[in-house]
Amino acid sequence: MTIKSEEEPKSQKEFLKLADRLSYVPSYIFAKLDAEKQELQKKGVDVIDLSLGSPDLPSPEVVIEECIKAVKEPINYRYPPFWGQTKFKQAASEWMNKRFSVNLSPENEILPLSGSKEGITHLAFAIINPGDLTIVPSPYYPVHARGTLLAGGMVHELPLTEKNNFIPDLDSIPQSVLDKAKLFFISYPNNPTGATCDFEFLERVVHLCKKNQILLVSDLAYSELTFDGRIAHSIFEVDGAKDIAIEFHTFSKTYSMAGWRIAFVVGNSKIISAIYEIKTNTDYGVCNIIQSASIKAFSISLSEHKKTAKIYEERRDVMLTKLKKIGWNIPTPGGAMYIWLPVPKPYKSSFDFCSALLHKAHIATIPGGSFGTYGEDYVRIALVDKKERLSLAVDRMEKAGIVFLR
Ligand SMILES: Cc1ncc(COP(=O)(O)O)c(C=O)c1O
Repeated sequence: MTIKSEEEPKSQKEFLKLADRLSYVPSYIFAKLDAEKQELQKKGVDVIDLSLGSPDLPSPEVVIEECIKAVKEPINYRYPPFWGQTKFKQAASEWMNKRFSVNLSPENEILPLSGSKEGITHLAFAIINPGDLTIVPSPYYPVHARGTLLAGGMVHELPLTEKNNFIPDLDSIPQSVLDKAKLFFISYPNNPTGATCDFEFLERVVHLCKKNQILLVSDLAYSELTFDGRIAHSIFEVDGAKDIAIEFHTFSKTYSMAGWRIAFVVGNSKIISAIYEIKTNTDYGVCNIIQSASIKAFSISLSEHKKTAKIYEERRDVMLTKLKKIGWNIPTPGGAMYIWLPVPKPYKSSFDFCSALLHKAHIATIPGGSFGTYGEDYVRIALVDKKERLSLAVDRMEKAGIVFLR
């Protein structure tokens, strides 16, 4: 390999040309809405911000206390161990066993991450070659598709519609797609639709991926946020799933720790090692202080999670009841922390509707189009404010004449 000498002059054109991959993930339209929101806020407008899925609830006291202790330990100022702290991985393994009755080796089947989002991108760089294909149910959490696009791969979107309860129709996937696909994402409870799936769906998707030799990726970000008595399952509750699957877990939603940037991935050891290879070549691992503090979160009882889920369930109910009064009669989300709201007439796109919500009612939401092709007829409302504020948001919509007239 020849390395160009530093003295060799670079042309101006080469210097300014950014990598092609940046053009595969355009986000400027949505950045525009965000800038408009900030402009309003600067002017002192009380914007009800229901855009990002960033929990407004406090992080657990036990984690905060442990963090204060950990920050005073000089050992934690050094680089963390590449594979993550052993005690973190042991605690993660025990939690997976307590919660889902599954066995995962702390040695090679668990890796701490600086958030699932980072891990999912690293996964794509570890698996996807230019031109490779990933199957992604759509609408999707953006990085499920964008990781593959950044790695130069292609995405096959499987429509999630109200008619199919936002569960993909596995029988509709062409065999040519299954033959080519390297990755298949699933994520239930689902962002942005709020849908949940039953265990039988997990069994079917494991079977399909085994048969077609596709790596199945379960993103279980909302495992503890389920409503009306539902319980989410790990993919590893399905026999033999470890042969072909990995699963992402995050502290962001369960423990309201989105800003702490801590998550972990579990499952097939070969794939965990591949993510590790990318991670260690781009990063030193999760900050020791954060790992030490987060271990405490694993000791929080499962019944505490039910209380958190109840808060979101009540918020959901407040919003759905009030939205119904102004024309929206929509399916009840079984989990996660979102309302997936159809765009009413006369708005031509999810962007137009979001813009109206922002400027006429001072409510910030996310246009469904940013969650993929099959999101375009919706906007996403995140239930990240108190019931009173959510209720006020719907009052503002009504006052601004924003009702469902389709
Ligand atoms: C499905 C899903 N996965 C992952 C994440 C992000 O997780 P983290 O904060 O660990 O990067 C989100 C955030 O909204 C999400 O909705």
